Amino acid sequence: MSSFNTFKIIAIDGGAAVGKSSTSKGLAERLGLMHVDTGSHYRTLTSAILSSGEDAEEREAISKILDALKLSTQIDGRTAKLGINDRVPADSDLRSPEVNAQVSKFAAIPEVRKKLFAYQRSLADLAREQQYAGLIMEGRDIGSIIFPEAAYRFYLDADEATRAARRAKEGQTDPIAARDRMDSTRQAAPLVCPRGATQINTAHHTLEEVIEKITHLIGS
Ligand code: CDP
Repeated sequence: MSSFNTFKIIAIDGGAAVGKSSTSKGLAERLGLMHVDTGSHYRTLTSAILSSGEDAEEREAISKILDALKLSTQIDGRTAKLGINDRVPADSDLRSPEVNAQVSKFAAIPEVRKKLFAYQRSLADLAREQQYAGLIMEGRDIGSIIFPEAAYRFYLDADEATRAARRAKEGQTDPIAARDRMDSTRQAAPLVCPRGATQINTAHHTLEEVIEKITHLIGS
């Protein structure tokens, strides 16, 4: 059967600075997909919790903060962005050294993940309604937990030196090795290579080559 007219869900998982965002945005552009960066969702909630003025060490306090947050979506180009109480935070706020240092701690809390689960799944319906050819979602648990039924699952990787060099080039202070350690050892939705996912080492290819390879593998 031809894949023409079939709505596609593509899951892109991997650790910090492996190239998930550039790959996903490039594929969204090339294949007419809606793009979602779930890392920015965890960054948005982290930033909201940190700026709430409440004690962010207490799970009960965190639950109360989360209950008061209303999630919304704004589409910017091909990317669907998470808004809190109808405001999408600036990228510079989401990638501040403080958020970089704290995001994995909050992402490990089950209540934080629960707040996002149904929202993230609902974005497939939004992409269908908006007549995108499919949805490309990047993160740590997309092929394993959020869309285990996704027909196309990829796990990107790269050696630590390459990844650290990418972040330094972007001028960011970001403890990527520590984040990866926390993300892969936590109980709730740990970073894993999803079953059946195709692994791609992005240190061995240019961005264009990775995009080409994935496009070829999904048969577009
Ligand atoms: O851009 P980078 O790959 O460095 O990180 P990110 O995708 O912005 O994700 C920031 C953090 O959010 C990760 O280190 C994880 O702690 C968390 N995260 C998660 O737990 N689950 C996801 N699906 C995506 C991100």
